[in-house]
Amino acid sequence: MNNFDFKNPTKIIFGKDSIGKLENEIPKNAKVLLLYGGGSIKKNGIYEQVKTALSGLDVLEFSGIPANPEYAVLLNALKIIKDENITYLLAVGGGSVIDGAKFLSAAALYEGETPWDILSKNIKTEKGLPFGTVLTLPATGSEMNSGAVITRTETKEKLAMGGPGLFPEFSILDPKVLISIPKRQLANGLTDAFTHVLEQYMTYPNGAILQDRFSESILQTIIEVAPKVLNDPSDHNAASNFMWSCTMALNGLIQKGVPTDWAVHAMGHELTALYGIDHARTLAIITPSHYTFNFDAKKEKLAQYGARVWNITEGSTDERAQAAIDKTVAFFHELGIDTKLSDYTQDFEGTAEIIAKRFTNRGWLGLGEHKSLTPENIEEIVKMSY
Ligand code: NZQ
Ligand code: ZN
Repeated sequence: MNNFDFKNPTKIIFGKDSIGKLENEIPKNAKVLLLYGGGSIKKNGIYEQVKTALSGLDVLEFSGIPANPEYAVLLNALKIIKDENITYLLAVGGGSVIDGAKFLSAAALYEGETPWDILSKNIKTEKGLPFGTVLTLPATGSEMNSGAVITRTETKEKLAMGGPGLFPEFSILDPKVLISIPKRQLANGLTDAFTHVLEQYMTYPNGAILQDRFSESILQTIIEVAPKVLNDPSDHNAASNFMWSCTMALNGLIQKGVPTDWAVHAMGHELTALYGIDHARTLAIITPSHYTFNFDAKKEKLAQYGARVWNITEGSTDERAQAAIDKTVAFFHELGIDTKLSDYTQDFEGTAEIIAKRFTNRGWLGLGEHKSLTPENIEEIVKMSY
């Protein structure tokens, strides 16, 4: 196991009807900017619950943060934060609204030339404007981590940012929010969280017995609750286990002491930037070809995952590893998630070359757990996913 530091300061308030607890978490003298997306919270009652809880506070609102939070839209919110001397941000939404809040938290205190620097120069935020979240869509884990991904449509870019100053102060997780989430988004959430675990697990054995079992238990839980969540999102136990699995998949815990990959996300983000494909679906497109391309490097862990998560106990290491990839693809299909780029766009010729070139232009640092994948390798992996 590798050495590690671990600090996660986010307070989690979990459970049925917990949105009202919001009023105890924000300083009474705060000037709050309430951030939300395209309006789902106005249809499902979450907005009313939040407004009631905030009734004693000075609150302004900014709505319209789109899925894959858009830089140009966020700049309008940044203007309000500065003009109105906002002191606290409250994100009510899924990963996109929460990531948008993280960008604003960083940008509000950033003193450089342009807030785009935070993304293009990958500036780590040590201190941001304080913020909390009310999670409305379990998927990304953004509610308990310090990372964010921001899109700039103008240049078809989707870049990551983060830093120790960007953990939410608190996040409210009420599994009742699942009731209004469309099936497509539930399937996305299941796929995204599942892939987050794989990115931190599917590398090579390094003796981290406990972390491996944390990861396997999250994968098993997602597989167990997936059909229940999709069939009946009001099933409280299924919803609770799904929601907590998503948070645990990406709050830093399972990545401590182990090598991590994240190449699937790096390639996936490019597919969203180029074609607007939902984040989770891009992961399902890349995962099978990534594991097939890197089969020799990953087969020990693939076989372990096959045995412990899918009960594949027959055959050689190679056979079990291959069967584990096949099971993963079948699982995505059961969720209703297609796994080939050509299922989403007919305009895919040249995609692999474009992505490889983009990575090269940004200054290639290598991808994968050994940072050994070259742009040529990336090109091949993306081509295999057509
Ligand atoms: O905008 P509204 O109207 O709220 O509708 C949203 C949106 O259209 C809707 N929705 C959310 N909660 C709902 C609901 N509809 C009905 N009832 C509810 N309770 O769902 C749609 C998708 O929302 P979005 O926030 O975009 O989804 P998700 O949580 O999957 O977030 C995806 C974004 O997070 C980034 C992705 O790249 C993508 O931009 N990620 C962030 C990460 C992080 N910060 O750690 C890690 C991830 O790997 C990911 O990259
Ligand atoms: Zn993800």
